[in-house]
Amino acid sequence: MQQIIFPFTGNSLIMALVILVHVFFAFVATGGLALAFASEWIGCRKDSAFHDRFALGYVKFLSSMMKLNGVLGVTIVVLLIGLFPVFTTRLYNIFFWPLMLEVTIFMVMMASSIAYRLNWETTKNKGLHIAIGGLAAASAAAAALVINAAWSFMLTPGTYFSDPGLLKAVFNPAMPASSIHLLLPCVLNAAMFSYIYAFFKLRKAEAADAAYYSWMADYCGTIFAIGILLQPLSGLSFLFTLKSVDPAIFTKIVSGSVSRFFWPMAGLATAAVTASVIYLLSRKKQRAALLVGGLAALTAFSFGGYTRERARKPFLIYGHMYMTGALVTAAAQPATAAQKVKAEPVKTAPVKPAAKAAPVKTPTVLMSREQALEKYSCLVCHSYKGEGGTFGPALDQHLLHHSKEELKNYLKNPPENMPPFEGTEQELDAFVNALKQD
Ligand code: HEC
Repeated sequence: MQQIIFPFTGNSLIMALVILVHVFFAFVATGGLALAFASEWIGCRKDSAFHDRFALGYVKFLSSMMKLNGVLGVTIVVLLIGLFPVFTTRLYNIFFWPLMLEVTIFMVMMASSIAYRLNWETTKNKGLHIAIGGLAAASAAAAALVINAAWSFMLTPGTYFSDPGLLKAVFNPAMPASSIHLLLPCVLNAAMFSYIYAFFKLRKAEAADAAYYSWMADYCGTIFAIGILLQPLSGLSFLFTLKSVDPAIFTKIVSGSVSRFFWPMAGLATAAVTASVIYLLSRKKQRAALLVGGLAALTAFSFGGYTRERARKPFLIYGHMYMTGALVTAAAQPATAAQKVKAEPVKTAPVKPAAKAAPVKTPTVLMSREQALEKYSCLVCHSYKGEGGTFGPALDQHLLHHSKEELKNYLKNPPENMPPFEGTEQELDAFVNALKQD
């Protein structure tokens, strides 16, 4: 299959950017529906107009935002299939039934949130209306959990590949801890988002609205401030779950290649926790401090997303599939097996395996360097002349500095972060010749 390289950013970065934006707003939507539902309920019980106004305001905002975010969700599916076809096929195949369930859950979520929004002013049965809001919030949380199951599976597939079973894939080792670490920031992000909104609205609000926005800042600020005190605990539980599953992942996060994402996240989270403590101790007077803490938390969110993604690299499914879609176990054995099978028939009966022999017979017809790099998916991780991925070093200089023998040796015995060359000795020759042509 043709390896497509996304222009300007490369494949990994474009995925990261689209996913990060989508996930941020999906978190706001999930947490926002929960906040709206809970606030309407409290408003009804306490007869509080502010709670009710807040809930309706949030749901109005969400109903527009969710349309845009739906487009981003579809974009992710398109990018995944186009840029990582082998991996996507595999993941969708393993998670087919959960993904079908996801589709159903999305239908329920969309239908109930539309009904929730449209019947707000007209409903005669407030209890039923609140229940519909509860259904919308619960289905949004369920949708997040299903996606998270597939996502955590990619990092901790557990024993799935030695002994496959759908339940093993869904309830993979890191799934429970990562689920909590995902649901909390849904509420956090939603509360933070509305806190920032209230903070700025308050500065320009007229007297009639000022009381409301001041209430909203206190209400959302408290939820955020308390939530952010809990989030590091869920993070630690996630981290130490990873440690118990595979110490190599843990080491990579705290002191290896991912530490440059992990420690900034930890630092920003510490700043957010400090700001929350100041805010709560000042009895909600230190609003600016919480604003800074909130911005720190939002930045920490993206570093956290990167940490979670990078912890898996160079794999798409940890320990089993590389970023190229190549399978880890399949890489070594079938290559040598194919070599043996080919070596003999080529000598005795060179006519028969026509399709396979063709590339072997034509090592003299050189591909261009770019074609060669693309053919063997090197550009998924490396760039050449500015095109390609950013995971490995740019290859322009490196290709010049290594001899053919060095390159061959390197490709056969790459470091941990790079998959070994998949192909026969002849193909490797042809490939290296293509790389070292003038
Ligand atoms: C899964 C991602 C990935 C793929 C695919 C990949 N590489 Fe790499 N490559 C890396 C990483 C990461 C490094 C840096 C390794 C290190 O130093 O630990 C690297 C290092 C290298 C280097 C050494 C650079 C130096 O230090 O001199 C060369 C050469 C290289 N790769 C060539 C290739 C070629 C050719 C292909 C295609 C057949 C390829 N790589 C495919 C990730 C990848």
